[in-house]
Amino acid sequence: MTPTPLEAQYALEVYPRRGIDIARGQGAQLWDSEGNEYLDCAAGVGVANVGHSNPAVAKAIAQQAEILVTCPGIFYNDQRGVLMQRLVQLSPPGLNRVFLCNSGAESTEAAIKLARASTGRTGLVSAMRGFHGRTLGSLSATFKYRDAFEPLLPGCTFVPLNNIEKLDNAVDDTTAAVILEIIQGEGGVRPAEARYLAAARRF
Ligand SMILES: Cc1ncc(COP(=O)(O)O)c(C=O)c1O
Repeated sequence: MTPTPLEAQYALEVYPRRGIDIARGQGAQLWDSEGNEYLDCAAGVGVANVGHSNPAVAKAIAQQAEILVTCPGIFYNDQRGVLMQRLVQLSPPGLNRVFLCNSGAESTEAAIKLARASTGRTGLVSAMRGFHGRTLGSLSATFKYRDAFEPLLPGCTFVPLNNIEKLDNAVDDTTAAVILEIIQGEGGVRPAEARYLAAARRF
């Protein structure tokens, strides 16, 4: 019989678990504590998209850990500057500044705050079945998981993905931002159409 993981005793259980105890990974492969092998089709929910235990990444982490383990944003740091420069080089033209976050939800929070501060408006339009995180702000733009936490941010509306007319009707002069996934993940791997994304950008 599989032993109950220690984590099951101590973790505050906020996610439905799959009952699998992942012990290690190599590239796209994973192994559980009993040695069963899996293919990680989710790349660690997108975090391990260069592969698990990638030797170049492991070496860079180990080297940096011997020099400096953390540096608050109130100080400059050479390595953080190198990372930011690389991110800007990889980004579309016009995206010249970087705000580093600890999670996807935190990046959604930052996007909502930037949109509010730069437009002076508060409305958010997002897609039905969309997922943008579980903090209160990002949950406000998320279609599910809301009920226990209402009221969330006011002025959030949801439209069906890929319906340009409904999106056009929802965007008005109170809208600070339209927030969309290029491919909905939690919503069931549903791609946004290119013409829909082009229309969203126009609005
Ligand atoms: C599109 C999208 N936005 C935000 C998040 C939240 O990311 P995190 O779990 O790192 O807070 C996720 C997580 O799956 C996501 O898929």
